[in-house]
Amino acid sequence: MSNVKFLSGENIPLEMHKVRMVQRVNLIPVEERKERMEEAGNNTFLLKNRDVFMDMLTDSGVNAMSQNQYAAMMQADDSYAGSETFYRLESVLQEIFGMKYFLPAHQGRACEHIISRVLVKPGSTAIMNFHFTTTKAHITACGGDIEEIVIKEGYKIKSDAPFKGDIDIDKLKELINKLGRDKISFVRMEAGTNLIGGQPVSMKNMREVSEICRKADIPFVYDASLLSDNLYFIKIRDEDYKDVSIKDIILEIASLTDIIYFSARKLGSARGGGILVNDNSLFLKMRELVPLYEGFLTYGGMSVREMEALAVGLEETLDFDVISQTPLIVEAMCNEFVKKGIPVVTPPGGLGCHADAMEICSHIPKSQYRAGALAAAIYIAGGVRCMERGTLSEQRNADGSERFSEMELARLAVPRRVFTLSHVKYVADRMDWLNQNRQLIGGLEFIEEPKVLRFFFGRLRPVDDWQERLVKQFRKDFGDSL
Ligand code: F0G
Repeated sequence: MSNVKFLSGENIPLEMHKVRMVQRVNLIPVEERKERMEEAGNNTFLLKNRDVFMDMLTDSGVNAMSQNQYAAMMQADDSYAGSETFYRLESVLQEIFGMKYFLPAHQGRACEHIISRVLVKPGSTAIMNFHFTTTKAHITACGGDIEEIVIKEGYKIKSDAPFKGDIDIDKLKELINKLGRDKISFVRMEAGTNLIGGQPVSMKNMREVSEICRKADIPFVYDASLLSDNLYFIKIRDEDYKDVSIKDIILEIASLTDIIYFSARKLGSARGGGILVNDNSLFLKMRELVPLYEGFLTYGGMSVREMEALAVGLEETLDFDVISQTPLIVEAMCNEFVKKGIPVVTPPGGLGCHADAMEICSHIPKSQYRAGALAAAIYIAGGVRCMERGTLSEQRNADGSERFSEMELARLAVPRRVFTLSHVKYVADRMDWLNQNRQLIGGLEFIEEPKVLRFFFGRLRPVDDWQERLVKQFRKDFGDSL
């Protein structure tokens, strides 16, 4: 681990930055946390941030920016068309990815909308390592379907596999043979595969997938939202790349793909999104949709200040000390969990620490949303807001039956450069208590269930009075403490 810095003798990562602006946070008493959870329909998305102590819902749009990013915001050129800011961002992207065309969009899902509208025909299938919620929603909204072919290891909670996000190559070949080229909209690879625990994809796998796609003339789409974590893992876990520069790794990735898109709420630590493409006819088709849904071609729904911050943030992604920060904190957190016997996805990925609700809440029927219940319990136990990543995040099947997720995870996301190691220890401490009292956690049932992306604003209630019992036990064990 050449340039990763640790405190001598201990496995504690050293921050290669200092903090010069802070935000006050509150920890309200456990009784109030239970009430706020009830008001929020047991959905952590519906909590108010003022009631949250540690916001680990996501790393999206909440990463700490650098002083150079803030400084760049001040030079933004605010014009509807032809803004200098756009050309600056465009040239940074072209330089980093070596791709010809850039289309701006207001965030990652907007890119998914545009790509799906152009490539997904009704009845077609998009093949991918694993879906992301918004990706799947846009593909199905265009009448398409998805097939997930991540390698078997990807579904295992405990594993030593370094690249659990890889595509199963045999399955890819089989599917192409079975469906035929015309029924396949595209093959999609997600860097730092989100829903299976922020697990990376290997270069070898990318090369193989690319070769197959090129032979079969199928567009290869790369979701680079979590690219920075994936780059770190390529450098750390792949012997062949330990001396290859981050810039060269990105260029190689880009050379293997046809379309790259990203959420700039993650990649580049700003807010926005974009699509990169080499093929002129694809570019022209997608370009038509930008002014219609996003905004004029030189801002695409982004504020010019964010675009300036993004240009700098993307350049900073080439710095190993910047991109290593999150994976190192995630690893430290996972190690704390493992030490305390809390089941968690291993090896640690990027993005956050993923507690295994399938096991922690194995006493709860699957139909009562194990990961959703654990997420509600985590907030009550510690004021920590995490996100359900399991059955609740799935859409029901067309016949209304539940689509049970293979994994039930409570994702404790680690926004970049936001939390300290004492925060990490605090979360591990409350998770430990919860794990020891896991029998007290009960199930949830819907009281309001939206049809699409139900996890965003669906409302649920506990199936019995388990949350009261949890609070009682908390008071017994923690006394007056918050
Ligand atoms: N792709 C991936 C891999 C993502 O993680 C996300 C967002 C998107 C696409 C969509 O981007 O939010 O800018 O529209 N992930 C966030 C999360 C929401 O919390 O994991 P967006």
